[in-house]
Amino acid sequence: MRTKIKEILHAPHPEKLIGKQVTVCGWVRTVRDQKTFAFIEVNDGSTLANLQVVAPSAGELTTGASLSVSGHLVASPGKNQALELKADSLKMLGACDATKYPLQKKRHSFEFLRTLAHLRPRTNTQGAVLRVRSALAFATHTFFQSRGFYYLHTPIITASDAEGSGEMFRVTTLEKNLDDASKDFFGKPTYLTVSGQLEGEIAACALSDVYTFGPTFRAENSNTSRHLAEFWMIEPEMAFADLDADRECAESYLRFCVQYVLDHCKEDLEFFDKFIENGLVARLQAVAAHSFAHLTYTQAIEILKKAPKQFEFPVAWGTDLQSEHERYIAEEYSKKPTIITDYPAAIKAFYMRENPDGKTVAAMDILVPKIGEIIGGSQREERLDVLERKLDALGLKREDYWWYLELREYGTVPHAGFGLGFERLVLFVTGMENIRDVIPFPRFPGHAEF
Ligand code: 4AD
Ligand code: MG
Repeated sequence: MRTKIKEILHAPHPEKLIGKQVTVCGWVRTVRDQKTFAFIEVNDGSTLANLQVVAPSAGELTTGASLSVSGHLVASPGKNQALELKADSLKMLGACDATKYPLQKKRHSFEFLRTLAHLRPRTNTQGAVLRVRSALAFATHTFFQSRGFYYLHTPIITASDAEGSGEMFRVTTLEKNLDDASKDFFGKPTYLTVSGQLEGEIAACALSDVYTFGPTFRAENSNTSRHLAEFWMIEPEMAFADLDADRECAESYLRFCVQYVLDHCKEDLEFFDKFIENGLVARLQAVAAHSFAHLTYTQAIEILKKAPKQFEFPVAWGTDLQSEHERYIAEEYSKKPTIITDYPAAIKAFYMRENPDGKTVAAMDILVPKIGEIIGGSQREERLDVLERKLDALGLKREDYWWYLELREYGTVPHAGFGLGFERLVLFVTGMENIRDVIPFPRFPGHAEF
């Protein structure tokens, strides 16, 4: 049986493993061949650190080769690790031509590594990103399941524009005459979903509390470090809930995720703290420990107008907050995650609940330092007449949303939810700068390799 390197290097009592026979498999990171023996650093991705293997000779092993090694664990004289493996038998599984292997020992740029998506998970940074990503997915399920939410699977192919903003990828089997959708596979135009929210509302209006966690697609041509064409979103939806309940849930969820990685991904976070963002762990500890700031949109506009700073985009009530505005609020004004509520109706999606003032809606965005918007949500418009009026005003066809409207006809209830962009969460907890570097296979304009 194979032992994972993590079980050896993170054993609670390493001294108890001394003398133990183990078989370890992995990839060679470095080889130092001395006259009478060789040091081989092996990594199997189960953890950041490498296991040092001491063997009589490295044979044909070079950096990048895969191997299986059996032997017994001994106390390591080195100070970096408690144990090392003294090899009795060593087998190369797959050779690696060192003259061609693109992952040389030097530090490569993240941009260059993106062109090697089949090999980049073997780098320290990508390995750590993928482990933290996995932990955040588990934290997400743990949080919502412990609150009694049910995990809902919403469709990837859809005929409705959940955000009403027309940024959808068409899905078709037609090769010509794309305009005649009656001849298309589904008999109507279909698209990759931009959000599972509307279906989430259907389920919430039956099971009370649900969440989705799936891929979403947006054909917005934003070549930024915060946008992907394919990203993962978590969308909780709660029946019998208003905007305050929504805010509480979103803040608790974010802080839970941060605490979860602090508790479960210590080694990887320390790596990010050292090489990616100095002070990361302290920043995350502060997020987990303190409640978020809360401002209304109108207050945020006043703050931005008084800011001792020139913005590229003008600040005026009624216009959407730009990334620079969001970051000023979170980074310089509040200096912590900030919830902004009650945005003007005109800049938000059709489904958000109209406030009594008739001008604003019960919307909520959470802005965090370095990233800006990480969560967008709202209380939903549960009043049929108001919703119909809003669709009409936006030029959206009632018949396209007939089932969504019927939810309001048969036992409508106040309900609310939000969406968290999973990759933005990974950026937030790792300190990584570019969203393309926190998803294994990034999709963005012009790029769908691998
Ligand atoms: O604010 P958005 O567009 O809200 C919705 O989709 C709602 N249906 C959510 C809901 O209420 N159920 O998107 C939600 C979040 C954003 O805050 C952002 O974190 C992320 O999704 N996001 C993106 N992440 C990466 N690339 C993109 N192109 C993104 N667009 C949105
Ligand atoms: Mg948004």
